[in-house]
Amino acid sequence: MKLAPGSSIVILTGAGISAESGLRTFRAADGLWEDHRVEDVATPEAFVRDPQLVQRFYNERRQQLKNVQPNAAHHALARLEREWPGDVLVVTQNVDDLHDRAGSRNLIHMHGELLKARCLVCGHVCSWSDDILAESACPSCARIGRLRPHIVWFGEMPLELDRIGDALERCHLFAAIGTSGNVYPAAGFVSMVAPGTHTLELNLDASMVSSVFTKCRQGRATELVPAWVEELLK
Ligand code: APR
Repeated sequence: MKLAPGSSIVILTGAGISAESGLRTFRAADGLWEDHRVEDVATPEAFVRDPQLVQRFYNERRQQLKNVQPNAAHHALARLEREWPGDVLVVTQNVDDLHDRAGSRNLIHMHGELLKARCLVCGHVCSWSDDILAESACPSCARIGRLRPHIVWFGEMPLELDRIGDALERCHLFAAIGTSGNVYPAAGFVSMVAPGTHTLELNLDASMVSSVFTKCRQGRATELVPAWVEELLK
């Protein structure tokens, strides 16, 4: 497939792109995410029921980021953004900061970010790199103990859907990398592009929505993504 210079590209990424950096995916064989059931830690109801458990869970995930690095797939997407003669937008479902650290700048974290906290009182969103504790104060309104992780939990609305929708309608190529296609609305993005748009899935195995893509390549993200970016930039 040859794309004209100036064409715009939208790339959706999921947990599979960070797997080879050492972060576990959500739907591995045991069905658990870091030893928890998703509904015990990733819903607004769970936060009401047991805020300490939920904060501890996300505090651990935040600490874990200090021990992982972006891999060749994150770096390849940052290179594509730098060198492609057109728009490149990365929309990630991942709450890690590996795309940011690799250098992607036109980036939407549609499911939120581990390195941000949100105040339940004033709504202020701020950078947060350490644990959120019962005594943590909001830097904006100073209320104590009312910060939550800036994460989109099940049952909550993903972020920046209008901007994502506009980019999908206008793009010439849509690629999905390392996502199982289980969670909407992200799983439906491939169906939101204009008729005739190239669509490509790069994933370890077939996803729930593979049949909707015009092309699929199976393998590890650290191998598939750099090779694909090389082809595009040739
Ligand atoms: N290279 C490429 N793909 C991989 C790799 C790899 N090294 N390792 C795993 N994969 C694939 C898996 O085969 C799977 O299809 O990545 C996909 C990961 O799927 P999920 O664990 O379901 O993660 P994701 O699709 O990102 O989940 C979506 O679900 O729990 C919620 O909010 C959470 O953002 C998350 C959303």
